[in-house]
Amino acid sequence: MKISVIGLGYLGTTHAVAMAKLGHNVIGIEPDESRIQQLAAGELPFFEPGLGEALKQVIAAGTMSFQTQHDKASAASDIHFICVGTPQAASQQSADTSYVFAAAIQLAAVLRPSSLVVGKSTVPVGTARNLIAGMQEVAGFTPKLCWNPEFLREGTALADSLLPDRIVIGSDDPDQNQTLKLCYQDILNQGTPVLELDLETAELVKVSANAFLATKISFINAMAEIAEASGADTVKLAEAIGLDSRIGKSFLRTGIGFGGGCLPKDIRGFIARAEELGVGESLAFLKEVDQINLRRRQRVVSLATKELGEIAGKNITMLGISFKPDSDDLRDSPALEIALRLKALGGIITVHDPVSLGALEQKSTGLTTEIDLQAAIKDTELVILGTEWAEYKNLDPATVSSFPKIKTIIDGRNVLNVDTWQQAGWRVIAPGRNIVNG
Ligand code: UGA
Repeated sequence: MKISVIGLGYLGTTHAVAMAKLGHNVIGIEPDESRIQQLAAGELPFFEPGLGEALKQVIAAGTMSFQTQHDKASAASDIHFICVGTPQAASQQSADTSYVFAAAIQLAAVLRPSSLVVGKSTVPVGTARNLIAGMQEVAGFTPKLCWNPEFLREGTALADSLLPDRIVIGSDDPDQNQTLKLCYQDILNQGTPVLELDLETAELVKVSANAFLATKISFINAMAEIAEASGADTVKLAEAIGLDSRIGKSFLRTGIGFGGGCLPKDIRGFIARAEELGVGESLAFLKEVDQINLRRRQRVVSLATKELGEIAGKNITMLGISFKPDSDDLRDSPALEIALRLKALGGIITVHDPVSLGALEQKSTGLTTEIDLQAAIKDTELVILGTEWAEYKNLDPATVSSFPKIKTIIDGRNVLNVDTWQQAGWRVIAPGRNIVNG
């Protein structure tokens, strides 16, 4: 099939490459000229395991091309996927849908009645119906439009796109879903469930799934606050409750909480939308979910202050700065916020991260970056593990123990083997646990 993918951020780039890998002819459209040039050269503008190789493959196969705006060839696409971002609006909680509307209106000006428009961006419920009305005015006909939310996670984006848990399609007319199902035929042939819903339910599936995941994380982090006050251990608690198959153990990892470009802004946007709909009280609990999450960042600052007496003038090493491993995304990263708060208190912060130092340097935070792990912890008075990269999880403490004079580590992600670290002479502190150090 002939496909256009509009918006080449994380979602759009991954989706475009996935569609080209399925054998479709894909044109990626993105107004940022430098990003287009980078992608056309086979380079990813962000870190995502496996995606760069796949991008090079589809360019070499001639099934993927890039341009800054629509032309005759892109207008002739069977399907146009809208993948632009919906960030949190400036100084508001709601999602900014202006990029989605702008992309849809530009598309409407060249749209053919036979083409299918498919929205993949995460949007407030009700957006798709407004888009149909707005596009109709420009196009002069009612566009065929489905909503098809994407559930990919950074770090496993391509695999999540090609082997999703489910495909959700929302539309007013189930007959038009056939074109999209044909496009996804290879994915459906693997037995992937497909749910054909109305537009509003499809939009809601995405934001409510993210809200549920955020709630699960904040639930276990609320238990961490109880554990800290009572002497219990949240890691063992999570294991015990997670063995109940009705609860499940995933998304019960306690620590410094969730971040990134999705969960935090999606729960805020969802609260704002519920208030617009006059049912704000239904999602009032999500405000607590947000607050519990943000408190975890301050908890680590408090633990560091307790340990060091005061932060000013102290050398502190942050291991990991991205919001999660296998990503260089710093958006709303808990590790970054903790590092900045400690710096604001006068701490001298050195950051190590296997892939995110370049992204950090572009932000001009004033944090010192160090690519060599041993150099990063050489003169430190406190190490904080902020992102659970495999190289930190698997680090043999014996190999780094001769470097710092003061061996104290805050395990912000609760991934270290406490016994091994203590045996190597380290004091281990962990949020949500009450670890006794000898
Ligand atoms: C999230 C969803 O998981 C995807 O399904 C969704 O498609 C995506 O948002 C999106 O809306 O685009 P992502 O932001 O890549 O994906 O990351 P997650 O794996 O969900 O992790 C989010 C944050 O929660 C990370 O900071 C992670 O460290 C934290 N987390 C996760 C915990 O603190 N504890 C856990 O148990 C799990």
